[in-house]
Amino acid sequence: MIFFFNSMRTIDEQGYHFDEWLTPKEIAKDVQQVAKQISADYADKEPLFVVVLNGAFVFAADLLRALENVRCEVTFIRVSSYWGMSSTGQLEFIVPLQQVVDNRDVVIVEDIVDTGLTIHQLKAHLRGLGATSVRVASMLFKPNKLEYEDAKPDYVGHEITDEFVIGYGLDFDGFVRNLDAIYKVKE
Ligand code: PRP
Repeated sequence: MIFFFNSMRTIDEQGYHFDEWLTPKEIAKDVQQVAKQISADYADKEPLFVVVLNGAFVFAADLLRALENVRCEVTFIRVSSYWGMSSTGQLEFIVPLQQVVDNRDVVIVEDIVDTGLTIHQLKAHLRGLGATSVRVASMLFKPNKLEYEDAKPDYVGHEITDEFVIGYGLDFDGFVRNLDAIYKVKE
């Protein structure tokens, strides 16, 4: 349930309190700024946007509609990344890639880059499949948590310290992805 306190929205979810951190207006500004950069960089190209489910679907919908003069194609994947028994990272495709990426300029769309493991492995995978270039657009980025330098996003909506956030695609045990703002957990 959403409450209003001094015009700031708050949420109670599973016993935790959250305060509104990025309003829909602030999010829209971030999305516009990212869209402007991508539109400039891909003006004469035909990039393939690879949207990482589930969290990125909200950001991707807004971002792709805000692009100008970019002839783009979009596809979706869902992955789970981990380090297995071997020394190489494992990338499990829950929803596999259905597009040929050979000779394509790829832009991965994420809701958040945390440790960077997912992006690190996904980038290596897409390059292995022959992508010409692989860049990353993420609504949120936690620079303090980054463990893989090559996973630093090329386009970032907003940087965040190591706090738990929900809304605008980000979930709490599968719920609240549909919130129109991003909420931060209250200490
Ligand atoms: C989240 C997020 C990224 C990943 C980031 O996905 O959407 O894909 O974690 O973490 P990392 O940088 O440490 O790899 P999650 O597995 O929670 O799935 P979801 O998108 O379905 O919520």
